[in-house]
Amino acid sequence: MKFFLDTADLDEIREAVSWGVIAGVTTNQTLFAKTGGKLADFEGHIGKICELCPGLPVSAESCAETAEGMIEDARRLAAIADNVVIKLPVSPEGLAATHALAQEGIAVNMTLVFTVPQALLAARAGARYVSPFVGRFDDIAEDGVAQLAQVCDAIHGYDFGHEVEIIGASIRTAHHVAEAALAGCDIATVPFNTLKKAVQHPLTERGLALFMEDWKKVEQA
Ligand code: G3P
Repeated sequence: MKFFLDTADLDEIREAVSWGVIAGVTTNQTLFAKTGGKLADFEGHIGKICELCPGLPVSAESCAETAEGMIEDARRLAAIADNVVIKLPVSPEGLAATHALAQEGIAVNMTLVFTVPQALLAARAGARYVSPFVGRFDDIAEDGVAQLAQVCDAIHGYDFGHEVEIIGASIRTAHHVAEAALAGCDIATVPFNTLKKAVQHPLTERGLALFMEDWKKVEQA
């Protein structure tokens, strides 16, 4: 399973890229708003993210309400850099826009996917990436991981005539990361805090403290 970073924060991207574990970045309006950026800065900000991870897919979302608006946004965003992927919601308008954009060779990440039929429709319309949300499913007392596993089974069994990868999204815990990998998910898009927690384990910390302590004894001897 590959890791994408789910953030619009440039420092977080810089640091995670330096770890050598990041294969792409996903953003959305909520994540951009958290950076304190203004609407006028949005496209420039996407450009900066693309520069921090050249050649890696960077999802930039359109919030247009019509297929025409989404297509217009997508063409503008795709012109920022070769590695921009357009993020669109799974909806009738989103599907129509995805279909048109796929024919133009513009990659789409179809987001806000919660069910197997939504995922199949997204892939069939031409989405290059399909993003089922895990945490938000848990939020409504459903099993987000089980739903992700079903989407993986359904999508991986079909030939859509183009490459489709599943991005496990709304990943909130190291447990979600593990379960996504075990479900055969292609990619998990992970917030930086969750990525940092995924590196940690109390036994790793305890073991490291012990090694340091023993090393001091060696130095003193
Ligand atoms: O990639 C989608 C993600 O940003 C949503 O996460 O935690 O708001 O459900 P969350």
